[in-house]
Amino acid sequence: MRKPVMAGNWKMNKTRDEALQFIYAVSDKLPSLDKLDSIVCAPAIILRDLVKRQGDSLKIGAQNVHFAESGAYTGEISPVMLASTGVEYVIIGHSERRSYFAETDETVNLKAKAALDHGLKPIICCGETLEERENGSTNEVLKRQITKALDGLTSDDLKNVIIAYEPVWAIGTGKVASSEVADEACGYIRGLVQGIYSSRTASNLRILYGGSMSPKNVSELMAQPNIDGGLVGGASLNPESFLELCNKAVQD
Ligand code: PGA
Repeated sequence: MRKPVMAGNWKMNKTRDEALQFIYAVSDKLPSLDKLDSIVCAPAIILRDLVKRQGDSLKIGAQNVHFAESGAYTGEISPVMLASTGVEYVIIGHSERRSYFAETDETVNLKAKAALDHGLKPIICCGETLEERENGSTNEVLKRQITKALDGLTSDDLKNVIIAYEPVWAIGTGKVASSEVADEACGYIRGLVQGIYSSRTASNLRILYGGSMSPKNVSELMAQPNIDGGLVGGASLNPESFLELCNKAVQD
């Protein structure tokens, strides 16, 4: 049995005050940790403030990490620094970072390894563009991204990894993938992991869907056999909407 996950990705939103208001509004209303991993991935500058106030049912994640432990990388944050804030998760390889900040399959792999080496749990993102979907190369793209991202990771490492399937055409567009399309892609990813590792590793791996997930479509997506949760941008910014997503994620 895989525990469901609801991860908010705030992207570059919320001041410190707004973030604290959010935390106070949700922290004692979330499903308990034995039922759901509720996670908020926030801008690095407010992570420590959130960790100190996360309560018993919320986990905190970062949105990016550098792969080096320290060095001349102006503006970057190392896995050592992130771990010292007390965060548990870190998003790696989000499509916005791939397209605006030159993130590659190779840096995704280096970052995933660095995160795991420092006790952080990576949420590794993958997903095809609209053009790739339309020209029939979705599976080829997912295979390349996943194979490279997991290169050198052991099956023990995989216990601490979450994968998020986020079709680029569905992110922030209001255009959600149908539950069949989303489940098919998540199932394909699970099959890839089975091929690289084993059926046990694949069946324990949590795979999230991301891309315009909202309180309206969460139940249908979560009912799919290969979808274990969501990585949610826009609909995670409002505390009521985030609570609704989390509560619906644990309803049968
Ligand atoms: P969205 O973003 O829910 O606003 O589409 C999802 C994501 O980018 O993780």
